[in-house]
Amino acid sequence: MSRLRIDGMLDPHVHLRGLQWSHKGTFASETAAAVAGGYWAVLDMPNTLPSTVNATALAHKRNEISRQAVSDWGVYFGATGQDNTAAFSSVVDQVCGLKIYNNATTGDLLVDDQTVRDQIYNVWPASKPIAVHAEGPTILAILDLVRRHRKQTHFCHVSSAEEIGYLWAAKEEGLAVTVGVCPHHLFLTRDDLSALGPFGLMKPELKTAADQEALWEALDAGVVDVIESDHAPHTIAEKQAAAPPYGVPGLETTLPLLGLAVHQGRLDAGQIPFLVAEKPRKIFGLQAPPETYTILDLDVPDIIDRQNLHTHCGWSPFEGMQVFGKVREVWIRGQQVFDGEAVLVEPGYGRNVVT
Ligand code: DOR
Ligand code: ZN
Repeated sequence: MSRLRIDGMLDPHVHLRGLQWSHKGTFASETAAAVAGGYWAVLDMPNTLPSTVNATALAHKRNEISRQAVSDWGVYFGATGQDNTAAFSSVVDQVCGLKIYNNATTGDLLVDDQTVRDQIYNVWPASKPIAVHAEGPTILAILDLVRRHRKQTHFCHVSSAEEIGYLWAAKEEGLAVTVGVCPHHLFLTRDDLSALGPFGLMKPELKTAADQEALWEALDAGVVDVIESDHAPHTIAEKQAAAPPYGVPGLETTLPLLGLAVHQGRLDAGQIPFLVAEKPRKIFGLQAPPETYTILDLDVPDIIDRQNLHTHCGWSPFEGMQVFGKVREVWIRGQQVFDGEAVLVEPGYGRNVVT
């Protein structure tokens, strides 16, 4: 089989940058990376500068993205440790969901007090999902809130055997949880760090081969709901500086890496549309517009090369890897937006998926 048609691809976990971090990437450049990666739409995380944690910052971000985006898009609202819950009811209809950072990462959004988390779970309306950054035992603390408040929760970038074990059990218990896994945790381990240096630093960090194996097992068993890129561009200079920021770009390498997994017999091609389109749309209650699809040539070998990437940051932790699969066409609302090489629409073509 060579050509695969995927309707309405959605990456529910990206950091588009823009605003005061436009030197890392703009809403135009990073949504161009999205369509080049095959995506119809992307959901933008709130740890920007400024953070998306109040109505003013949200309105400003929505304005900027809507002027610049070539793919469709949605934005998350961010919870702060300083209690911004009063804003929840007025912003919920404008966003795809709420993001809570329960462990430290890029930006200053950290909620590490369980009482504050409990308050957040209490106030956030059940109509939109909560996405959490929770690593290791923090997952247990969040599961306790899911159990008590019964609010649908997506666990982002699950990366270890320990974490997948907690979530596997939570699913067996019948909790309303979903699991996202990133390509970098499926295809790289901490053994790659010596070659990658700062370009292999992200949160959650790269783990052991045994952790990686546990992710593949969970994928095989149907415990993984979404493959999400956690696309997080930083400039080469920033990555090479004394204290490099966490994060790697990923929007344009997800499909070719999944193609590699198919080629290696580790993934069934039929699972791809579920993991990158159907399930993420279902979690966020989004319907793809008519005539919105991607044509992927699954058998074409390729080598990941920064020259071919649209992301502004201009590098990839997967550079030099032999992968399989090329995005040939992307259509959004009956308009071809990507032809395998170039983006065919102007900034502003992309629409908000939420309203
Ligand atoms: O590696 C990461 N980078 N992990 C995150 O959680 C945030 C992201 C970023 O914004 O750079
Ligand atoms: Zn992220």
